Amino acid sequence: EDGLQTRAASRGLTFGTAVHSRQLQEDPSFRSAILQECASVVHEYELKWGHIERERGRYDFSKTDIVTNFAIEHGLKIRGHTAVWHEALPAWAPEAFRREGISVIERHVRSVLKRYSGRIEEWDVVNEAIQNYDNLPNGFRNSLLFQEFGATFVVAAFRAAREFDPNVKLVYNDFGIEYDNFRDRARRKALLPLLRSLREEGLIDGFGTQSHLTAGNPFNPKLLRDFLSEVASMGLSIVVTEFDVNDTKLDPDIGTRDKAVAEHAKRVLDVILDEKAVTGVLTWGLTDRYTWLNEPRFARPAGVRARSLPLDENYKRKPLWEALASCL
Ligand code: XIL
Repeated sequence: EDGLQTRAASRGLTFGTAVHSRQLQEDPSFRSAILQECASVVHEYELKWGHIERERGRYDFSKTDIVTNFAIEHGLKIRGHTAVWHEALPAWAPEAFRREGISVIERHVRSVLKRYSGRIEEWDVVNEAIQNYDNLPNGFRNSLLFQEFGATFVVAAFRAAREFDPNVKLVYNDFGIEYDNFRDRARRKALLPLLRSLREEGLIDGFGTQSHLTAGNPFNPKLLRDFLSEVASMGLSIVVTEFDVNDTKLDPDIGTRDKAVAEHAKRVLDVILDEKAVTGVLTWGLTDRYTWLNEPRFARPAGVRARSLPLDENYKRKPLWEALASCL
């Protein structure tokens, strides 16, 4: 039967997934599943700054290239994720920022774009700069980057990217815009002026909505619809960059859970995919065998593994796969 990519392509969309190099190397079933379902991949971790430049001045792309070369070999597109993210800075970065300023960031942006020039056509230049409830001016996140540079780090990163390669599509990527709650309302409100000002300066082409959903959260279609159409009206494209469904609030029974996850995904995706500016969907992993939602940072009920992705741990298609297939 057709994979998700075939369905997506029939309406001009791209479908893809995040991957870690080890999964490609160790798991032939995972490789086949990607080739069956996807037209695009993104590095789940191994293109981030803290990974590739652990030692200052010595970029190490060996793991990164395992993913990149797999994509090239099989004709898959690659999304660039991500040049500037507060959570994945090298350990040496704080001191370098203090001594040398913003040029450290600009240089990194140029280096990563250059390394995959002609291979990666779309980059998440900046990831997660907004966190309105930190109560900083313009809704910025109270990260080391903001503390050091203020809002200028975002503009500087995008400008460095634009000047280095005007052919690359530049995306600002963030999460938490779906729901009718305090946090998402605050983020939607802070994101619009940021996107607008970047757009007015000609520094941005697209908005990436991570779309890490949580089944059971209060969803009001109109709030999401209006937000996306406002982003689209700026002339930006929109891409779903990290789709998955957190299922911790649901009944642990697998049958019930899978159904609720699929229903929730469909409600939200129907709204997103109704927006004409949307160009594609990437899920944050393809199989429940590998999902960051099982990483220790998330508190999960003992023994209950996440069922957040379209394929189960044995690569069987789940109700969430059917939901994606029916929306795409
Ligand atoms: C996460 C990966 O899934 C983890 O494996 C890694 O340890 C940390 O990064 N938002 C993002 C992604 O933009 O880069 C994050 O990926 C998940 C949240």
